[in-house]
Amino acid sequence: MKKIGLTETVLRDANQSLIATRLPFDMFADILPTMDKAGYYSSECWGGAVFDVCLRYLNEDPWERLRKIRKGMPNTKLQMLLRGQNILGYKHYPDEVVRMFVDKSVDNGIDIIRIFDALNDIRNIEVATDEAIKKGATVSGTISYTQSPVHTIKAFADYAKQMENLGVQTICIKDMAGTMSPDEATELITAIKKQVKIPVVLHTHCTTGMAYMTYYAAVEAGVDVIDTATSCFSGGTSQPSTETIHYALTQIGYDTGLDAKVLKEVNDFFKPIRDQFVKEGKLDPKALSTDSDALVYKIPGGMLSNLISQLKAQNAMDKFDAVLEETPKVREDLGYPPLVTPMSQMVGVQATANVLAGERYKNISKEVIAYCRGEYGTAPGKINEEVKKKVLGDVKPVEGRYADSLEPVFEKTKEELKGIARNDEEVLSYIAFPQVTEKYFAARKEREEKVVKYTIEPIKED
Ligand code: CO
Repeated sequence: MKKIGLTETVLRDANQSLIATRLPFDMFADILPTMDKAGYYSSECWGGAVFDVCLRYLNEDPWERLRKIRKGMPNTKLQMLLRGQNILGYKHYPDEVVRMFVDKSVDNGIDIIRIFDALNDIRNIEVATDEAIKKGATVSGTISYTQSPVHTIKAFADYAKQMENLGVQTICIKDMAGTMSPDEATELITAIKKQVKIPVVLHTHCTTGMAYMTYYAAVEAGVDVIDTATSCFSGGTSQPSTETIHYALTQIGYDTGLDAKVLKEVNDFFKPIRDQFVKEGKLDPKALSTDSDALVYKIPGGMLSNLISQLKAQNAMDKFDAVLEETPKVREDLGYPPLVTPMSQMVGVQATANVLAGERYKNISKEVIAYCRGEYGTAPGKINEEVKKKVLGDVKPVEGRYADSLEPVFEKTKEELKGIARNDEEVLSYIAFPQVTEKYFAARKEREEKVVKYTIEPIKED
């Protein structure tokens, strides 16, 4: 029997794509022992936006959350998404921070680290990959997939080969926008399979409605693992449904290793949670439907909704079409970066600024300056020279690899946080998200002082 693995994304990407990662730990704690028996290839449960949202909105320590998931699912491989040299933040960090973050992720329960760089610049994943392998984790070297004149099948396959040479154990193709067609999947997977000996993973989204067809084509081309979400958290901007894919693939002779009875229990558990998010207006029905606009604009669904909320906030929805036209132009100016975090935010904000100001690159974000300097690595294509001149002005471009110029910060920060941060993990949280973590520390202090007040209430003995 042919084997295929399914990664369940309900705790990370489905949660992130449909409900902006607002699922608190307590809401899913009880299902973990059941999920542990499903037979998933892995459970994607950490990284991406989980870390940031835990601190910013859920008042949860993301490390504690990971430890609790580990405890609830002792037999399942836990997987995270890591933004290479950006770790889980939006800029580059010094190598020591990257190494330490990887170490602590593994120490707290992670088995598989999917490591990507927004620009597919291999220098930005080398350090994280090296450290993860040393720590005994499985590294899934990841291609940020996109379509552009400079993104060819050959370039992607060569990148996969370079990652195999780094020692990654699997190759993941990350189609964050859900714009990979079945035909593209066949070509790309066939080409990568010719270049590398290690398993190939495909990650996509249902955004444009192609994902099921794309997975089918990928399976025929020999893909080894695909990402799916329990059915009530599937579809729309999320992944295809786990149960449905299991059903269909079993029928054509694949062994997914999954237990259909357990999958149903998992889905039954999440259904009322999904309904509650719908009822409270936190799950927009639009996120659950098909949006073929992404095929026209080549803009990921999440980015499209960000653009809309930016324009609404500035009372400028009449400029929507103009911004949609401007977005691919900015992307071209910047050398066709794949629209994934942090590039999607950068390109979207710049396109909006260009339209609202009525003049291109009149207002420039500090991120775009950093990008044009080379702080994020090398652009896939050529950055438009005129734009570069206008953006940089007197600012000097980076020489060599940007992270090499960054001073270590860990020990210094640890010293600063004496008496506040309780372990090295919390110091790392602070380094990644200083303001957010500071607020988290303050809220925790307040909470605990309250608890102390209650516990010292005199007890009347009788
Ligand atoms: Co995704």
